[in-house]
Amino acid sequence: MSGEARWSAVDRYVDETFAIEDEALRAAIDAGKAAGLPEIQVSPAGGRFLHVLALAVGARRILEIGTLFGYSGIHLARALTADGKLVTLELDPRHADVARRSFAHAGVADRVELRVGPASESLAALAGEGAAPFDMVFIDADKPGYPDYLTGSLRLARKGTLIVADNVVRGGAVADAASADENVRGVRRFNAMLAAEPRLRAGVLQTVGVKGYDGFALAVVVR
Ligand SMILES: C[S@@+](CC[C@H](N)C(=O)[O-])C[C@H]1O[C@@H](n2cnc3c(N)ncnc32)[C@H](O)[C@@H]1O
Repeated sequence: MSGEARWSAVDRYVDETFAIEDEALRAAIDAGKAAGLPEIQVSPAGGRFLHVLALAVGARRILEIGTLFGYSGIHLARALTADGKLVTLELDPRHADVARRSFAHAGVADRVELRVGPASESLAALAGEGAAPFDMVFIDADKPGYPDYLTGSLRLARKGTLIVADNVVRGGAVADAASADENVRGVRRFNAMLAAEPRLRAGVLQTVGVKGYDGFALAVVVR
């Protein structure tokens, strides 16, 4: 069995063993497919990882940047405390429409606020409105935007906020300082910002699975 086939087999085993993907999550994927949206959501194991992190920090307020059809959003919303809220930001109104229906079908729509538009503008609007700080932030939109999203997220954070960002390893390409790929350059700038920001303690965890070889950046606001 090749490396990739083995990673996928283990991901399927994890999904089955921990009964991660239920009817609502599968319906969200089906709705995304039916609407012709790209299948670039986190894996079931990735979704459960986010869910467990949100539970671990006792998240009441979660900010997600990059909604797609709501798959990771459902995992996150299900971890919220009863009075909790997920604010999720999406550029594409078509994606947002599918996500709204997926949140309703999963029974979490009352806990989700979906804002449509460029995330940098939504982040500025949230800061301008004096939004309460978020307990957890999940960054998963366009990669060249990651540095801006980090700056915007820090304005909406407090000491103890957990910041998670997906796709920061990119099949290992992140280690190539000479890469001309704008996605690689974006995540390299983002990782450098995480490393240099005195308010943060951060690192990167490499992952393999049905989505190939990639990784999550994890950071905590320490002051
Ligand atoms: C990788 S997908 C998000 C996947 C989702 N977090 C999940 O795992 O289920 C990235 C999403 O970010 C959105 N996006 C891209 N550029 C954006 C921007 N400038 N502002 C807000 N969202 C953006 C895309 O339309 C897409 O739906």
